[in-house]
Amino acid sequence: MTETVTVAAPAKINWMLRVLDRRADGYHNLETLFQTISLHDEITITPAETFELDCDDSTIPTSRDNLVLRAAILMRERFSTPPVRVQLRKRIPAGGGLGGGSSDAAAVLVALSRMFVPQAESHLPDLALQIGSDVPFFLIGGTAYGTGRGEVVTPLPGPSPIPLLLSFPGVSVSTADAFRWLDDSAKKSSRVGASRIRDLVLNGLLDGASELTNDFEPVVFERMPELGAIKRGMLAAGAAWSGMSGSGSTIVAAFRDVASRDEAAARLSGQMNVVSAMTT
Ligand code: C5P
Repeated sequence: MTETVTVAAPAKINWMLRVLDRRADGYHNLETLFQTISLHDEITITPAETFELDCDDSTIPTSRDNLVLRAAILMRERFSTPPVRVQLRKRIPAGGGLGGGSSDAAAVLVALSRMFVPQAESHLPDLALQIGSDVPFFLIGGTAYGTGRGEVVTPLPGPSPIPLLLSFPGVSVSTADAFRWLDDSAKKSSRVGASRIRDLVLNGLLDGASELTNDFEPVVFERMPELGAIKRGMLAAGAAWSGMSGSGSTIVAAFRDVASRDEAAARLSGQMNVVSAMTT
C-alpha cells in the first residue's frame, strides 16, 4: 500500500504582469514573470476509504469550490485514482494574488500522479489548466515566463535568492473583478518580450526594477488606495523594488540583502503586517 506523502505547495509572486487583449473565450492574453517563494502551504495525502479534506483554516471552503478537491476529482475521473484523505495546512493567505489555491491543486495533481499513476505525469498540464490559469505554472515553479492565459510557461534560470517582504492588507481582490476594471479603463498594454525578460532575470532583476510593472496596480490602487500607500512605504523603507502580486492584494518588496530587508521589516512592523520570505 502506498504510504502517506507530504508535499509543500509554494506561493508565487509576479515580478511583472501585462494584460494584453481580451479573447473570444472571455479570458485575457497576458505576459508575466512568475516566481515561487519560500512561503508555502503543507499538504499531507493518505490513502483512505472515502475522499476527505481537512483544513486547519476554517475560513477555507472544503466544498467543491476548493481547488484541492477539484484536482482530486479530475484525477479520479481521468485516471481512476483511489480515494485519499488530504490534510491542508494553510499558510498562504487566500485572495491575496499569491496563488495559494492554485499551488495546492498543482501539488495534489503531482502527488496523486506519483503515488498511483506515474504515467499520468505528461497529462498534468492539461488537467491543471482545467482548474485555473496559473495552476500549470505551479507544476514547474521557480522563475518562469508566462504567456497565453498564463498557462504557457517557459522556465528561466532563476536569480540568486532574493530577500522579500510581503504585506497582506486585510482586503482581498476578486481576479475576475480586476480584469473587468482593466477592460473598463480601456488601457492597452504592449508585450515586453521573452528576450528582454530573460535579460532582466539574467541581470538579477533588481537593476531593472523600473521595468517590473503590474498593469493591475492603477485600477486596484484607485479603488484601494491603502495598497498604493503600502507600496510607497516599502520603497521608502529601502526596498529595491515593490509591486502588487497578480491582481492583488498582496504587496511584495524585494531587497538587495537580508540585513536591509530585516531593517525595513523592523521599521515597518508598527505600520503594517509584514512577512519575510525568499525567492526559491
Ligand atoms: O483561470 P482562473 O480561474 O484563475 O481565472 C479567474 C478569472 O480571472 C477568470 O474567470 C477570468 O475572468 C479572469 N482571467 C482572465 N484572463 C486570464 C486569467 C484569468 O480574464 N488570463
